[in-house]
Amino acid sequence: MGFYGIIDSGVGGLTILRQITQSGNLNLTYIADHAFCPYGLKPNKIIFQRVSKLVNYLQLHGADGAVLACNTASVYAPLLKEIYRIPIYDVITPTCKAVLDGNVRRVALLATKSTISNGMYKQILQQNGVQVVNFDCSAFVPFVEQCSTDSVQCFQTIDSALSALPQANADAVILGCTHFPLLRRQIAYYCGDSKIVECRCPLSASFAAEDKPAVQPVLLTTGDANLANAAASWYGNVSFKHIDL
Ligand code: DGL
Repeated sequence: MGFYGIIDSGVGGLTILRQITQSGNLNLTYIADHAFCPYGLKPNKIIFQRVSKLVNYLQLHGADGAVLACNTASVYAPLLKEIYRIPIYDVITPTCKAVLDGNVRRVALLATKSTISNGMYKQILQQNGVQVVNFDCSAFVPFVEQCSTDSVQCFQTIDSALSALPQANADAVILGCTHFPLLRRQIAYYCGDSKIVECRCPLSASFAAEDKPAVQPVLLTTGDANLANAAASWYGNVSFKHIDL
């Protein structure tokens, strides 16, 4: 049974973990880097150092692979692959593939400032003839982490970021942050007939052949375990443990 580590800044990557647990009999450790959450507005250097540290931890603990279940972190996959010997999977590549498999010419990318400025989505999609219109939605992440997705402030923040989305005339809207499926209902209000594309799991295809249920994942946070449990209550019965990293 393979051992895989799944990394995000917080609880958003659980949306990817859920896809992985449905796809095979794997031994999984999820690391939420709450001590540095949110990633999306931090300098590149800090995000890279953190993600590198987490991948290093997984490699030292015998992981067979590391999944960057975070778009903001995913842009560093090529660099990390040069440093570490374990396979490293990003979520942007399979998500772009899902977009390109559809009949899509123009997309709206909802993502963090960092994901947008690092340009990995734009590069892959434009090379394949798809136009990309960016929407900086970095400010959405704390509402998910603070369990306040139905607050007035959250609705106001979404409204100011997405009021121009209907005019973008996008065939598809990419939820280019793993936290955003937890705001899908609120975001959908601005999407009209555009298809909503959530981040895809990079492992599903490779492990689809395994039909045994996965063992219970180990959940770790570099922050407060109680706060992490509260933020992840939508996932089911979760029990995060603190880890110093
Ligand atoms: N969930 C992450 C992403 O997909 C990071 C969000 C953040 O920490 O800003 O981009």
